[in-house]
Amino acid sequence: MPQPHLRTVVVLAAGEGKRMKSTLPKVLHPLLGRTLLGHVLSAAAPLAADRTVVVVGHGADQVRSHLDEIAPDATPVLQAEQLGTGHAVRIALEAVPEGAGTVVVINGDVPLLRPETVGALVTAHEEAAAAATVLAAEVPDPTGLGRIVRDADGRLEQIVEERDADPAQRAIREINAGIYAFDAARLRDALGKLSTDNDQGEEYLTDVFGLLRSAGEPVAVHVAADHVETLGCNDRVELASLRRLLRDRVNEAWMRTGVSLLDPATTWIDVTVALDRDAVVDQNTQLRGATVVGSGALIGPDVTLVDTIVGPGASVVRSHAVGAEVGEGASVGPYAYLRPAARLAGKAKVGTFVEVKNSQIGAGSKVPHLTYVGDATIGEQTNIGAASVFVNYDGVNKHRTVIGSHARTGADNMFVAPVEVGDGAYTAAGSVIVDDVPAGAMGVARARQRNIEGWVVKRRAGTAAAEAAQRAGGAKGASDVAPAASDSEAMHGRAETVGGTSGPGDTATD
Ligand code: UD1
Ligand code: MG
Repeated sequence: MPQPHLRTVVVLAAGEGKRMKSTLPKVLHPLLGRTLLGHVLSAAAPLAADRTVVVVGHGADQVRSHLDEIAPDATPVLQAEQLGTGHAVRIALEAVPEGAGTVVVINGDVPLLRPETVGALVTAHEEAAAAATVLAAEVPDPTGLGRIVRDADGRLEQIVEERDADPAQRAIREINAGIYAFDAARLRDALGKLSTDNDQGEEYLTDVFGLLRSAGEPVAVHVAADHVETLGCNDRVELASLRRLLRDRVNEAWMRTGVSLLDPATTWIDVTVALDRDAVVDQNTQLRGATVVGSGALIGPDVTLVDTIVGPGASVVRSHAVGAEVGEGASVGPYAYLRPAARLAGKAKVGTFVEVKNSQIGAGSKVPHLTYVGDATIGEQTNIGAASVFVNYDGVNKHRTVIGSHARTGADNMFVAPVEVGDGAYTAAGSVIVDDVPAGAMGVARARQRNIEGWVVKRRAGTAAAEAAQRAGGAKGASDVAPAASDSEAMHGRAETVGGTSGPGDTATD
């Protein structure tokens, strides 16, 4: 067994990213579920480095606290002034004990880099026992990038930055991707010899290659098979184009594992999402964060799921869910909003214009239409009538509503929490339920209806309604109806509902 190499990963993330024109440091911009920095760290993760150092500078506090969340084992090292990539690596190495092994350096803004590619670079470097190896790529447009300058035998001579290059060097389309493997000791040595004799007056990491080569050390180029992986991110236009490229990569991978994407161009799946076989994702759908979709589930069209778990065979149509759980065979939407801790058991249904928050909806229970369910527990096989509100908030505190199994609540109910409706209980339509309803009882909480016979014929004389009423024999009792108090009151039935003196409140609902 060969001795395993000690490996150190250094990620360069101190730059400002001026062209992003952002208060957020460039490496913290998100791209399908991870920040740019998060993508780079996850590409390096399979290297199983003994330590990972992230050079921070611009927005150091923000970058540090992000690292605390996503990579608590990584060591942030402050580069207070950005004096160049060589300077950054020098500072990084000052923070780690001197020793043998491989130092892998990765620019913080190359999010499409695959773990396989950085792995192949490091393996090639270690097998060749090179002093330094650079990842290179042939690109259609090398503008702004460092060029790989080779000698007559095709060996690396030096890396030249565009602004320091002569016209012949600028014509080279083989570029430095900003990803390298170095022998630790020889890197330290060369970093101590860097000059700032260049157009930017910075210490260039890339000059290490020329220095080592002049000293007769073996330096190598590892060419990436797919140049797309080496694309950097300098402004928001590039960020958007990287997002499309990553979307296509992610979507293709899911389709190859047996997931149907009906319109990949409008399907955006974070790299952190998982889907089972035979899941079907319809168009214009975003799956984000820790979302998991079970086999045979149907998602979309027009769905956004954030950190949401969808069971096998469930369906979610034209809906938005955050931090929710949708059980096996359950159905959601169209037009539903599931908020954090909305939990639907198997075969439950949340229908149209329904919002659910911090509530359990038991197996087979249905909340089909126009309803808010907040802070509730609903048992199994229960039906919640249309247009109901779980009144959970008293202005200061939230309270729970508990509804049992096999209950049938009427349409247009208000459940004023804390309140309980027992197993098998019913409630009448239009009820405001403020008291518990025992198991098997019918809860009724509404005013009795009264009809004022002949009201329309008397008070709306001459209208089509009055004529229709008359034809239908609806003049009966009209002589008993009091005359209108004023013309304006007669015109606007509402006055009567407020005053309540001469007519029924029911006319307000027009
Ligand atoms: C660098 C390379 C160039 C290569 C390109 C690939 C050098 C001198 N040039 O150029 O050959 O083609 O990347 O994208 O290295 N950073 C620090 N501290 C600093 C300066 C930079 O941490 O003092 C970080 C930046 O945040 C960034 C990375 O290093 O993540 C690269 O820096 P950047 O200024 O973008 O270098 P380029 O000009 O793109
Ligand atoms: Mg750059």
